[in-house]
Amino acid sequence: MTLHPPVYVDGKTGRSLILVGEPLANLRRHTAGRRTIVVTDQNVKRHWKHLLDGLDTIVIGCGEKYKNLVTVEFIYDQLINRQVDRSALLVGVGGGIVCDITGFAASTYMRGISFGLVPTSLLAQVDASVGGKTGVNHRGFKNMIGVFSQPEFVICDLELLSTLPAEEITCGLAEIVKHATVCDQKLFAFMEENMDAVIGRDPEVLARLVHRSVTIKAGIVNRDEKESGLRRLLNFGHTFGHALEKTTGISHGRAVSIGMVLAARLSQELSGLPAEATARLENLLHGLGLSTRLPVPGSKIAQAMVLDKKRKQNAIFFVLLRAIGQGYIHQIGLKSLQQWLAR
Ligand SMILES: NC(=O)c1ccc[n+]([C@@H]2O[C@H](COP(=O)([O-])OP(=O)(O)OC[C@H]3O[C@@H](n4cnc5c(N)ncnc54)[C@H](O)[C@@H]3O)[C@@H](O)[C@H]2O)c1
Ligand SMILES: [Zn+2]
Repeated sequence: MTLHPPVYVDGKTGRSLILVGEPLANLRRHTAGRRTIVVTDQNVKRHWKHLLDGLDTIVIGCGEKYKNLVTVEFIYDQLINRQVDRSALLVGVGGGIVCDITGFAASTYMRGISFGLVPTSLLAQVDASVGGKTGVNHRGFKNMIGVFSQPEFVICDLELLSTLPAEEITCGLAEIVKHATVCDQKLFAFMEENMDAVIGRDPEVLARLVHRSVTIKAGIVNRDEKESGLRRLLNFGHTFGHALEKTTGISHGRAVSIGMVLAARLSQELSGLPAEATARLENLLHGLGLSTRLPVPGSKIAQAMVLDKKRKQNAIFFVLLRAIGQGYIHQIGLKSLQQWLAR
């Protein structure tokens, strides 16, 4: 596997080094002799036991229901029982849930210890491990408790994706399409041209997608770490997507895929996006195995949009497109969005 050029995120809490193509087996090169404790989940532990053997490991349960303060407390207890002090390093080896929890536990244990991430799902490699958002859900609200804190390093070992269920790959691809659609028309065209290789999980092609995606996200985070402006671009498809996820229970990736198509349609009306661009987006998503059509009436989704975190008073920071690769942020009244959806 080719090691791609390193990518850096410079955040308030420090610099993050992201390596795409680096094997997990090289972890020790990055721990620099420090006491290292790995946090992983049961699935990842089962599949990658041989690579984790010999490492001091804390294993958590799988799924969103474990992404809470109870699991964080469990990690704190384990760290205290093992007499882990501030000089230690916590390394999350897992999907987005492990990455978010590990980052939060590390950033709060003894007022903060260093952490690294080895994302093992495609979504975690291109999204959750990059940018320093850490945290957990609380009383049914997603990512309600958390801090911005940059991992010291992120190791994206593409080999780890070989055990990932196909549906998880498909959902991760939705976030790559998102990055391409708002920021990088070349990446978009590359995905169109290499659709079969992407679906066939060609390692070199996947690595290129991950590297490009990480570079795009890092570039945005470097300019707006705390999401006061530009970083909102990364919510493309997510306002409708989150509402759809909540209403229908479909997966995040599939919901965002449909949300992106809806946002493109709205862009046709509000910013003159050519219909041909929406068609390209739909074709790409469909070709990758993602959903592009609303499974329920738009009016149902409209109702669920009331509690969106990104709502500022009655306006939503909504991401529209001028063209493929050119997203922009536009404030839209919640009411008019709901009416547009419900018509
Ligand atoms: N911090 C951020 O910026 C950010 C961005 C996007 C998403 N997220 C968060 O990420 C989470 C979703 O991440 P996810 O989709 O990776 O979910 P996940 O962590 O639940 O992983 C998906 C499933 O795949 C399994 N898995 C992971 N790696 C595997 C592997 N290599 N082989 C076999 N099975 C494997 C997991 O055990 C789990 O069952 C959400 O909680 C979301 O809020 C965070
Ligand atoms: Zn997402």
